[in-house]
Amino acid sequence: MATTTIQTPLTLPCGAVLKNRLAKAAMTEGLADSRGVPTVGLVRLYQGWAEGGCGLLITGNVIIDADHLERPGNVILATAPTPEAETALRAWTQAGTANGTHLWAQISHAGRQTQKLVNPNPKAPSAVKLGLPGGQFGEPQAMSASEVEAVIQAFVQAALTCQAIGFTGVQIHAAHGYLLSSFLNPLANQRHDLYGGSLENRARPLLEAVRQTRAAVAPGFGVGVKLNSSDFQKGGLTSEDSVQVAKWLQELGVDLLEVSGGNYEAPEMMGMEGLDPSAPRPTKSASTLAREAYFIDFARTLRREVTMPTMLTGGLRTLAGMQAALEEGVDVIGIARPLTIDLKAANALLDGTQDHLPAWEQQLQERPGFFGPKSPIKLIRTIQGFAGIYWYYSQFYRLGRGRPAEPNLSPLKAMGEVTGMSGRLIKARKGGAPVSPV
Ligand SMILES: Cc1cc2nc3c(=O)[nH]c(=O)nc-3n(C[C@H](O)[C@H](O)[C@H](O)COP(=O)(O)O)c2cc1C
Repeated sequence: MATTTIQTPLTLPCGAVLKNRLAKAAMTEGLADSRGVPTVGLVRLYQGWAEGGCGLLITGNVIIDADHLERPGNVILATAPTPEAETALRAWTQAGTANGTHLWAQISHAGRQTQKLVNPNPKAPSAVKLGLPGGQFGEPQAMSASEVEAVIQAFVQAALTCQAIGFTGVQIHAAHGYLLSSFLNPLANQRHDLYGGSLENRARPLLEAVRQTRAAVAPGFGVGVKLNSSDFQKGGLTSEDSVQVAKWLQELGVDLLEVSGGNYEAPEMMGMEGLDPSAPRPTKSASTLAREAYFIDFARTLRREVTMPTMLTGGLRTLAGMQAALEEGVDVIGIARPLTIDLKAANALLDGTQDHLPAWEQQLQERPGFFGPKSPIKLIRTIQGFAGIYWYYSQFYRLGRGRPAEPNLSPLKAMGEVTGMSGRLIKARKGGAPVSPV
């Protein structure tokens, strides 16, 4: 049998064919206006990514409940789009599906990780506040069973809207501590009803959202899931739990299971340690070429347990590492940060002119001052973590305005820009004329 390489096409269970094995992983773009309508900046970003070569583009968080944004500037699909929103959404999907590219919307509800400026009392499985210093997050309220059912319906409705406006699939976000992920996490989910306690109960909102979405959309429309390999917290979702959830998802006909890990309290998805020094961390066998991939050990275990296509995201930077992951049985390579400064960076891997992608996170860490040694002060460490992500957000503002990215941008300046813009977007949501981030 011919060796699978990053250039090899992949047929998914729904029949869709990805033209190669590279996928742009979800990155929240922050380029919708204050009403949650895509701007020309978002269209511009996806024009670049579609020309950039990846067979699959997964959007950043597209929010199914306007009170539970992952951040201001998210696209919102909570209700049927207005004619104006529909035109903007279609321009976005047209841009993202050019060049034979599949475009999936990552549909999501931020749950207790909704920032306080968006909602001081977000809905969550239980009234368990995030354990982070700094007061950025509010006091969550436990959802009633009927509110959980309504959220499941909102996922299905959002998927139908995505199908109607030109996406070729959706990815249901059940990773990184957002609502469906927090249901899976026993530390965040302390319920005693149908949605809490046993793993089967904790997985029910996710499994129902997937089951009902698969039944509602057309057979050829992709339905994927992003799942934590573990929460990397003592008492959180374990890798054994995650394998079991993956088996259930396979039975429901999931087309692509993306493996990640962690949440805001333990940001392992970015390769970063959380605030609890005694929490478990991802294991990586030293013997494998794919050791740059944060969750490769889990992906290998998963391959023995399920046959559905899997996507591995986190840390993959070299062609050799990607090839090794494919040889371990991973089907799709997920890439996020290397595709920020140069939206078309994947082309060089695919045409063989480069054997690695830029690791911007390393360059940031090597900057003197702010990103120097990890601070012993938890608040400063938390701010450092968020500032590292805001640096990419700020680059999206530049690219969205049609300007080049700024690799030398100061993380502190980026933080100022993003917090300023978030404030303006939220103020406009509360009344007045719509505000655009670009
Ligand atoms: C700027 C930025 C925004 C992100 N937004 C999302 C998101 O909306 N949804 C999601 O599932 N993951 C998000 N992530 C996580 C990435 O999808 C990915 O899991 C992580 O960056 C690790 O991959 P990488 O090492 O290739 O960057 C984001 C990451 C970055 C850097």
